[in-house]
Amino acid sequence: MSTVLRDQAPEADTPEYVLEARDVSKHFTVRGPLGGTTVVRAVEDATVRLRPGQILALVGESGSGKTTLARMLARFHEPTRGEIVLRGERVSGNRRAQRAYHSEVQLIFQDPFGSLNPLHRVRYNLDRALCLHQPHLTAKGRETRIAELLERVSLTPAADYTTKFPHELSGGQRQRVVIARALAVEPKVLLGDEPISMLDVSIRLEMLNLLKGLRTEDGLALLYITHDIASARYLCDEIAVMYAGQMVESGPKEDVIASPQHPYTKLLIESSPDPERGVGDRDKLFAGADELGEPPSLIDPPTGCRFHPRCPFAMPECAVEAPPRTELGGGHWAKCWLHAKGRAGELAGTTHAAATVARREKLQGAS
Ligand SMILES: Nc1ncnc2c1ncn2[C@@H]1O[C@H](COP(=O)(O)OP(=O)(O)O)[C@@H](O)[C@H]1O
Ligand SMILES: [Mg+2]
Repeated sequence: MSTVLRDQAPEADTPEYVLEARDVSKHFTVRGPLGGTTVVRAVEDATVRLRPGQILALVGESGSGKTTLARMLARFHEPTRGEIVLRGERVSGNRRAQRAYHSEVQLIFQDPFGSLNPLHRVRYNLDRALCLHQPHLTAKGRETRIAELLERVSLTPAADYTTKFPHELSGGQRQRVVIARALAVEPKVLLGDEPISMLDVSIRLEMLNLLKGLRTEDGLALLYITHDIASARYLCDEIAVMYAGQMVESGPKEDVIASPQHPYTKLLIESSPDPERGVGDRDKLFAGADELGEPPSLIDPPTGCRFHPRCPFAMPECAVEAPPRTELGGGHWAKCWLHAKGRAGELAGTTHAAATVARREKLQGAS
């Protein structure tokens, strides 16, 4: 009996999540147009949890706070509130701790130029990462490792690439070098901030497959940030949806895609192209989306639920108080008053576009 307990002990000590953001907020103080300062509430009380070997997609439209959240997870921004937790431990702020942190968590930017030194060849760019993070390697050991890394990201034969400058590569090749550079560190977690959005459409799928392989073959956890739900659908195990700096819904991919439980998620899914649904009904699907208008200000965000001004299901209470989080089972949750008021059935019963039309007609009838 005691043997069994001892065998189980290390398991119990292993935290379930490799990386977490716990209720983090980030407020930027910026100069207003008329002098003085204002506060941009870029992220508000967001929680994200990554298990080892998991791919979590963080989706949301431009300006919803995805990059800011990724930069907090990468320790490039200090959270205004809340904490970042790596393997169960709160991370501290000093510089040495920062390097140790980056040997476990690597951020891949949207623009591959941003993370490569343009004045140096591919070999130097990779060698530098190895010198910093794998100091035990000899020069020969690093040379071997560089070739392995380039092969890992399908840049073969490696010798064709080591002497190239970043500008001599295509966008896709550059992003592969960036990924190789991140892998040089042997991280546990990759944070990919829209890593394929600047690449040619024709090579996006290959890139997604490369990322998928890193999870399956190398056991990396990946936070895949995108505004494009179709690629999230292809790649991830779980989806987290952000709107105007807040998380509005999260859960296993199948549940969220098949049965979105927040009106914003429903809109995202219904307005994304889906090969199975065909393209014939795209116009119809987009009918309501045009009327959504501008995303909300993060300086003076809407009261209550931040989505309420754009939501065809909005009720009077939505403008007053932020909705509570409703657990829907199996790790799926949403923050929407429809659930708290027992009216969630309305979501499944219609499309976002139809609900928008119905709401407009109701409002016109009332005026
Ligand atoms: N350094 C900064 N200073 C001031 N505002 C910022 C800064 N970084 C981001 N923001 C603001 O925070 C909000 C969220 O931005 P961001 O995290 O880049 O969103 P996303 O990646 O989803 O497009 C935006 O309104 C943006 O203008
Ligand atoms: Mg961004």
